[in-house]
This record gives sequence, structure tokens and C-alpha cells, in this order.
Amino acid sequence: MRFLVCQKIFQKKCTSNGTKGYAPTSTSLLLMRHGEHSMATLVLLESSPVMLAPWHYLSACVRQNDPLTFEAAHGKDIWSYAAEHPAHSDLINDAMACDARASVPTIVEGCAELFVGVNTVVDVGGGDRTTLRALVKAFPWIRGINFDLPHVVSVALESNGVKHVGGDMFAAVPKANTAFLKVHISI
Ligand SMILES: C[S@@+](CC[C@H](N)C(=O)[O-])C[C@H]1O[C@@H](n2cnc3c(N)ncnc32)[C@H](O)[C@@H]1O
Repeated sequence: MRFLVCQKIFQKKCTSNGTKGYAPTSTSLLLMRHGEHSMATLVLLESSPVMLAPWHYLSACVRQNDPLTFEAAHGKDIWSYAAEHPAHSDLINDAMACDARASVPTIVEGCAELFVGVNTVVDVGGGDRTTLRALVKAFPWIRGINFDLPHVVSVALESNGVKHVGGDMFAAVPKANTAFLKVHISI
């Protein structure tokens, strides 16, 4: 607990009967499963055995000048792996949705002028459509196209103003006024 207090994940607090206790901080609230700002699924993804395995290949990959640690661990790239493992795909999509819920409000507040006069937005690699749902809610004149791999859009929920299209962005991307590409940096 001393370490977690140092990291500001908990804070020390006296309880009502005068004994030593601990209370949550704004950081620990991010780690709780529920709540608008929860980042718990992102932590669960990054600490899952599937995502930790590539770290064991890091030094070998660095020595061989090969950046593909996920492929070294699992024999295929992360998106092919996700297509074959629906539970891991769900974990990725939920984790990306956490990231989108945290970051898209900043885009909406800080870059609203970019969306004036824009009728259609294609979100390339849009995951479960959380980003586009927030953009369409903030800028209701926009029609959104949520473009992602077929195994992702086939399980994505419907949303007003958002159409799902499955495909490979390296082959073609649906036409729109604006292409939106938000990435989450990981290993
Ligand atoms: C790191 S996630 C980002 C998700 C979302 N844009 C966000 O930031 O919350 C990358 C997304 O790109 C999708 N993706 C990967 N390769 C793709 C491809 N070749 N064509 C279309 N989508 C792809 C993945 O399925 C995943 O949903």
C-alpha cells in the first residue's frame, strides 16, 4: 500500500474510528470497471497474457533488428490473431473504446471548427464506433462511416448516424469528406 500511495493510486486517510485507512484517488477511479472515465479494460488488455507474451521476445527482436514482437510470440500479427480469437478481439475493442471515451471529448472541445461544413466522416480503424458516436452526437450534421476489419464491424453495435463498413484500409477506404484516424500507441 505504501508503494501505491507513492504512485498516487491510493491516499492515506484516517477512518471515522481514528485508525489508519486508505481512500481512492482520481487515478484509482480510472481503474474501476464502471464509470464514464474507466480505463480498466485498457489495463486488462495491456496486462493480458496475450499482450505480455511479446515482451519476452523484445531483446531477441532488437538484436535481430526485427520490430515484430507480437508476430514472434504468436506467429501472426495482432489483427489476424484477434480475428481468430473473438474474446481477445472484444477485449481490444472495449479497451479502444475506453481510450476513445477519454480522448474524443478533448477533440470535440478543442477542434470543433474542423467539423464545420463536413457532411461525412470515415473513421479508419474505428473499432466499435465509440469515436464516431461521440462525434455525431457533438456535430449532428455529420454522417459517420465506421470502417474497420470485417470481424470488428460484424459485432459492433448500431448507432444513429453511423454506418459500419468492413474492409482492409490497405486495399481501399470508403469515400467521405474527411478521413479520421485515431491510433492508440501500444507495443
Ligand atoms: C489501435 S486500434 C484503434 C481503434 C480506434 N481508432 C481508437 O483509437 O479507439 C486500431 C484499429 O484498426 C483496425 N485495423 C487494423 N488493421 C486494419 C486494416 N487493415 N483495415 C481496417 N482496419 C484495421 C483494428 O481492428 C482496430 O480496431
